[in-house]
Amino acid sequence: MRISVIGCGYLGAVHSAALASMGHEVVGVDIDGERIAALSQGVAPFFEPRLEELLREGLDAGRLRFTTDIADVAGATVHFVCVGTPERKTSRAADLTFVEQAIDELAPHLERGQVVAAKSTVPVGTAERLSPRVEARGATLVWNPEFLREGWAVRDSIEPDRIVVGVAGTPAGEAAADVLREVYRDTVASGTPFLVTDWATAELVKVAANAYLATKISFINAMAEIAEVTGADVTLLADALGHDGRIGRRYLGSGIGFGGGCLPKDIRAFVARAEELGRGESVAFLREVEAVNLRRRERAVQLTVDALGGQVFEKRITVLGAAFKPHSDDIRDSPALEVAVRLKGLGAAVTVTDPAALDNARLRYPQLRYVDDRDEALRGADAVVVVTEWDEYRRRLTPEHAASLTAGRVVVDGRNCLDAAAWRAAGWTYRGMGRP
Ligand code: UGA
Repeated sequence: MRISVIGCGYLGAVHSAALASMGHEVVGVDIDGERIAALSQGVAPFFEPRLEELLREGLDAGRLRFTTDIADVAGATVHFVCVGTPERKTSRAADLTFVEQAIDELAPHLERGQVVAAKSTVPVGTAERLSPRVEARGATLVWNPEFLREGWAVRDSIEPDRIVVGVAGTPAGEAAADVLREVYRDTVASGTPFLVTDWATAELVKVAANAYLATKISFINAMAEIAEVTGADVTLLADALGHDGRIGRRYLGSGIGFGGGCLPKDIRAFVARAEELGRGESVAFLREVEAVNLRRRERAVQLTVDALGGQVFEKRITVLGAAFKPHSDDIRDSPALEVAVRLKGLGAAVTVTDPAALDNARLRYPQLRYVDDRDEALRGADAVVVVTEWDEYRRRLTPEHAASLTAGRVVVDGRNCLDAAAWRAAGWTYRGMGRP
């Protein structure tokens, strides 16, 4: 099938490559010439395992190309809209400027019978509002939310847990759902559930999923706060809870909480939209979810201060991690960097290292000191704070090796990812989050 993808950021770049790998003929469009040039060479403009391999496969097979010219979408059966919906500058609601622009720029090139499949995360009600602009050209709008995780984006695109397609309850809507079923034919054939819903449900599935995941993380972090005053160990608690099949262990990882370009902004936009709809009370708990999340960042700072005897002024602190999570170079709303910036604000001499995110971090927080080499970063430190659970720190840094480099023996485990007993046995003062 001939397919266009409008917007080649995170979502669009991965989606284009994934569609090409499914055998489709794909053109990806973006206004950013540099990004298009990189993608056309098979170079991913951001860190994402396996993406370059997939890009090169599609480019070499002649099934994938990238362009800045929107007119190149002409003749595609399906046009995927994959542009971003950032937080507005003036409120917590989602900014739909890019989605509206994409649809308006696409509209003149649409032909009767074509399908516009939007993947962007939007406030519920957006499809209904934008559909007339697509219908005016004889095309049909469907909402096909994306659930990919950074770091696992290729796998999540090719083997998703489910495919959701929101359509209007009209014959054209039903026909458009069939077109999407054809796009994802092999995935559906391999057993992936394919759910056809109305527009509003499809829009809600995405924000509800992210709200649920954020709630689960804040739930375990709230339990960490209780553990801190009772002597319980939140990681053992999470293991025990996780064995209950109704609860499950995933997203019960305690520590400095969630960040990134999705969970934080999506729960804020959801609250804003619910308030617009007069149902603010239904999601008022998400404000608590956010409050717990932000408290944990401060808690990690406090633990570090306490572990260093009550003040960190001019103490040398090495922060292991900058990305909002491992397998990513994304630093948007990164809890890791917030901890680093706060420690620096208290007068500490902070050094930050990360295997992938330092270039981004340098641009965003030029006031911090960055060292690429992990061991070099550790040299002479009075304390070590682990804030992103990369394997480089979790598995491949032994307490003995760390001790051979640092001046002090204080480690704060902001992700509860280290073997506390092993670090203590090697002479370290170990502090976890919600662990005795
Ligand atoms: C999230 C969702 O997981 C995806 O399904 C969704 O498609 C995506 O947002 C999106 O809206 O585009 P992502 O932002 O890549 O994906 O990150 P996650 O892997 O979900 O992690 C989010 C944050 O939660 C990270 O900071 C991570 O460190 C933290 N986290 C995760 C925890 O603190 N504990 C956990 O147990 C799990």
